[in-house]
Amino acid sequence: NTMASGQMSRDEALECTSCRHACHVMLYSETASQLFGRIPIRYIVLMQMRFDGLLGFPGGFVDPSEETLEEGLTRELLEELGVAVPISTEDHVESCFSLPCSGKYSSSSRLILHFYVKKIEEDQIREIEKAAASTAADHGLEVLGMVRVPLYTTKSGGGLSSFLSHSFIGVARSQLINSLLRLHLVSPGALREALRGSQR
Ligand code: APR
Ligand code: MG
Ligand code: MG
Repeated sequence: NTMASGQMSRDEALECTSCRHACHVMLYSETASQLFGRIPIRYIVLMQMRFDGLLGFPGGFVDPSEETLEEGLTRELLEELGVAVPISTEDHVESCFSLPCSGKYSSSSRLILHFYVKKIEEDQIREIEKAAASTAADHGLEVLGMVRVPLYTTKSGGGLSSFLSHSFIGVARSQLINSLLRLHLVSPGALREALRGSQR
């Protein structure tokens, strides 16, 4: 039963007209660049430092009565990144109630989180980073800066494990971990190692 775990399909989610909806996306690309000229980076994964000091994915609140989830997400990307990266339903990964459902969100104002993943070109990543730090409307306000996720582990045990030990908004940390595994951006063994390190 997927409802019990808080998960639902995109269509099921949209049936809840009294719910608030928020959409976020993990943008990533392949790269041939190497750290110190010897550690292959392999992939660039974009996250951001938010106004609340937490790491998260770009995106935000969408009102499905005014625009589609994907149009709303693209609009949020224009505000936060300075680039209107087009997001489509094919990029949708999962929708779920924000947990815990009690507390901050009463049953009449439940929040449904929609998560997307989109692979783009390294050139686009660089364009986004440039725009996000200059022309983006939210720069220095809702968004303090874009960050790349280190996917490697250094000799001293730094890298992904240190990154994962920071504080994340909502379910962003598990969205990141699940995506890295599902897309084979890191191996299960390397991830296990990093998770062990991040608990120290
Ligand atoms: N996982 C779970 N929840 C998330 C994630 C995530 N990865 N990212 C964001 N959220 C939650 C946030 O806690 C917030 O409640 O989703 C909601 C909307 O996401 P934001 O990106 O924060 O919203 P945005 O529309 O970009 O603008 C921020 O929210 O707190 C207000 O007044 C503040 O105007 C501001 C707005
Ligand atoms: Mg926003
Ligand atoms: Mg946002």
